[in-house]
Amino acid sequence: MIKFTYFGHSCFLIEGSKGRIIIDPFLRGNPHVKVNPNEIVVSSILVTHAHADHLGDTVEIAQKNKAQVIGVYELVQYCLKQGAPNGHAMNLGGSYRFDFGEVQLTPAFHSSGCPDGSYGGAPCGFIIKMDGKTLYHAGDTSLSLEMKLIGELHNIDVAFLPIGDNYTMGPADAANAVEFLKPKLVVPMHYNTLPEIQQDPEDFADKVGDLARVKIMGFGETYEM
Ligand code: NI
Ligand code: MN
Repeated sequence: MIKFTYFGHSCFLIEGSKGRIIIDPFLRGNPHVKVNPNEIVVSSILVTHAHADHLGDTVEIAQKNKAQVIGVYELVQYCLKQGAPNGHAMNLGGSYRFDFGEVQLTPAFHSSGCPDGSYGGAPCGFIIKMDGKTLYHAGDTSLSLEMKLIGELHNIDVAFLPIGDNYTMGPADAANAVEFLKPKLVVPMHYNTLPEIQQDPEDFADKVGDLARVKIMGFGETYEM
């Protein structure tokens, strides 16, 4: 069994039998969560790309927990330079078996500059295999044909997909992504945190129809599967 908690935007805390991880821990700057990064207990932090609304409080959480930062090479180097104690650099297409489970980096069509303007490497998404479940976190991305391949190669239990539009795919393209990915469950993310990404998640759920079950998560809500 795994448990995931949504902290708004693209941030999820995921707990399995072999560890706890957090993805894109944008906590302090997030208008909807009242979670102090100091309270987060994890062994690994997965970061999809260098933008502040994803990198967020990564370095602070890594320091506090002596946790490793997992992501694309350039972004991990940036985090180490900023004081993260430990990192595991990867790149697109690569998988690695960690204590908590297996992670593969998937392509994301986006940009990725570090807060200081340095190059953050390529943006990515993650396929995470934990406790017999397959999770796909798309990161910030447009709709892409790669998702069709991911859907064909993997049996996705849950897909976390951006629906905010403007910076990523919007509800219509995200529903097309569901058709490609064929997940059992889809959780919309990356919406309603900024003025330019206001969306009605129910509208997304209508567009998905019976392609997959849609779980609209409240901020701080936990789901078990
Ligand atoms: Ni971004
Ligand atoms: Mn973003």
